Amino acid sequence: MAERKDLDFTYSLTDRLVRLSLGELADFSAAKYDGDFSLSLEEAQRHKHDYVAEQIGIEPGRHVLDLGCGWGGLLNYIRDRGATGVGVTLSSAQAAACRRHGLDVHTYDARRVARESFGGVDAVASLGAFEHFCSPEDYAAGRQEEIYREIFERVASVLPARGRFYLQTMVFGRNMIPLEQISTRAPRNSDAWILALMGCQFPGSWLPFGHEQIVRCAEPRFRLVSSISGRLDYIETITQWNRRIGAPSLRKTLLKLQLLPRWLTSADFRLAFTSGVSANKVCFERELLDHYRLVLEKAP
Ligand SMILES: C[S@@+](CC[C@H](N)C(=O)[O-])C[C@H]1O[C@@H](n2cnc3c(N)ncnc32)[C@H](O)[C@@H]1O
Repeated sequence: MAERKDLDFTYSLTDRLVRLSLGELADFSAAKYDGDFSLSLEEAQRHKHDYVAEQIGIEPGRHVLDLGCGWGGLLNYIRDRGATGVGVTLSSAQAAACRRHGLDVHTYDARRVARESFGGVDAVASLGAFEHFCSPEDYAAGRQEEIYREIFERVASVLPARGRFYLQTMVFGRNMIPLEQISTRAPRNSDAWILALMGCQFPGSWLPFGHEQIVRCAEPRFRLVSSISGRLDYIETITQWNRRIGAPSLRKTLLKLQLLPRWLTSADFRLAFTSGVSANKVCFERELLDHYRLVLEKAP
C-alpha cells in the first residue's frame, strides 16, 4: 500500500504548483466529457460531479464521505448542493488546503475507515484513490484481493442497506505487462520503461486488473449498478492538465526553483516529474491502463 510518505511525495510536493495551475479546490481525477472534447476542463469536471450526485444522491440533508478527497473539488460541490461532506486524504498539504476553504477534511487513512471514524453516512465516493490502496509488494505477496475485500467491508460498514458507493479508478488495461518486466533500465519509451516512470510518480501504488477484479472483490457486500470506461476522458483531462501546468508563469518558475534541491538529489523525482514524458497519458493511449467509473450498491 502507498504510505503517507509516498502520498506526500506525489501530492504534497506539488501542492502549490497544482493549486496555482488548476485552481484552489481543483479536481485531480478524470473529468467526464462524454465524447464532447469541446467542453472546458471545468465543464467536464462539473459533468462528473453531476453524474456522481445523480448516482449516489447528493442533495440537501445527505451526508457523504469522500475517501481520498484531494484538494476538495467534490466536497466543495457537495457543500454547494446543501449536503454535508467529510473527506480524508493522506497528503498533509491537501488536508491543510481543504481546511483553509472550510471543508471538513482529515489526514486519515481511507483503508482504516470504520463507523467509529466519522459515524454512518448516506453515501460514499472515492475518485482516484483506489489506485493507491495496494502496492507492488502487496501484489507480489498475493495480498491484493484481501486488501480490496477489506476496504469494501469497511465501506459497507458505514453505509445503510442499499447505500451507494461511487468508485472511480484507473485499472490495468488489456495490454498490461508482467510486473517483473517493469524497469527504469528498459529501453526509453518501451512499455516497461513508461510503466516504471509511473511507478516513480506514484510510489507504492499498484492497480487492479480491470474492473472485473474490483467487482469480484466488492461482492457479496456490493452489487454492481453500472460500470463505464473513462479512458478517453482521462487522456483529454491529462492533456488539459499538462497544458495548464506547463503554461509559463513567474510564480510557477519560482515554485519549481524551490524543488531544485530535490531534483538534484533524487533520481526518482527527476524521472517522475521532469522526464518530459506524460507517462500516464501514454499508458492510457497504449491501453496499458484503463479507467472506470463504478456505481456499487450495498446488498440489503
Ligand atoms: C488522484 S488524487 C484524487 C483526489 C480527488 N478525489 C479528486 O478527484 O480530485 C488521490 C487522492 O487519494 C488520496 N489517498 C490515497 N491513498 C489514501 C489513503 N490510504 N487514505 C486517504 N487518502 C488516500 C491522496 O492523498 C489524494 O488525495
